[in-house]
Amino acid sequence: MSDARLLEVERINTYYGKSHILHDVSLHVEQGEIVTLLGLNGAGKTTTLRSILGLTPPRTGTVKLNGRELRGLAPHAVARLGVGYVPEGRRMFKNLSVLENLQLAERGTVGDGWTIGRVYDRFPKLKELAGRKSGRLSGGEQEMLAIGRALVGNPKLILVDEPSQGLAPIIVIELYKTLEELRRQGASILLVEQNALLALKVSQRAYVIDDGHIVHTGAADELAHDQPRIRGLMGLREDEDIPA
Ligand SMILES: Nc1ncnc2c1ncn2[C@@H]1O[C@H](COP(=O)(O)OP(=O)(O)OP(=O)(O)O)[C@@H](O)[C@H]1O
Ligand SMILES: [Mg+2]
Repeated sequence: MSDARLLEVERINTYYGKSHILHDVSLHVEQGEIVTLLGLNGAGKTTTLRSILGLTPPRTGTVKLNGRELRGLAPHAVARLGVGYVPEGRRMFKNLSVLENLQLAERGTVGDGWTIGRVYDRFPKLKELAGRKSGRLSGGEQEMLAIGRALVGNPKLILVDEPSQGLAPIIVIELYKTLEELRRQGASILLVEQNALLALKVSQRAYVIDDGHIVHTGAADELAHDQPRIRGLMGLREDEDIPA
């Protein structure tokens, strides 16, 4: 069991009611990797994360964390086993302060795990804003809080859904530096993005999903250097820009 992959998703099929959204989706994340799942609007990225988390359980297939089956478990049980989540749109308790949001998410850890103090060291801005209601933070600050909130749960794997959405380019670059730094400190991350070029820069491997099907898997740097291929895989026309 010790050589099991950190996350192994095998041939999952996920539905919303009668709509068959994910078709035999398989992917994996090794310990210490950033893996990106790229795809356009509606391709099935969020549904893939929801399937892993047990929020929209797949009807068939398997989702394993360190060899342990997650499919069929409730979302809180999946979280407790070590899967953190930074949701699309950074959902948080907008009427609670930064500190209160972190306190709600904090899960005690032994050794050198993430504490609120360590999150403040990493994101000094959050410390400055500790008493502010999170609904009054800027988009970039909210994204930092959403990441901080995931970290204090001390997950084995963090799922991050379109962190660059709605942020100014300079903030997005900062954010990606943060993800790279977290990886250097040992974090394992499954990132979903439309912003392909930036995501590929920080990732070791990539998958592309189109209409609920995985249409590509490979090394991130190879794909990063082949923009026509990214366009083709993501279903963009030659004259359409890759989302940034
Ligand atoms: N709650 C829902 N009920 C029914 N259909 C849904 C629901 N959520 C998403 N879908 C459909 O499932 C498909 C995949 O959606 P999903 O949200 O996974 O895409 P996405 O890749 O995350 O897109 P985006 O980049 O816009 O966030 C889309 O066709 C979408 O319309
Ligand atoms: Mg989405």
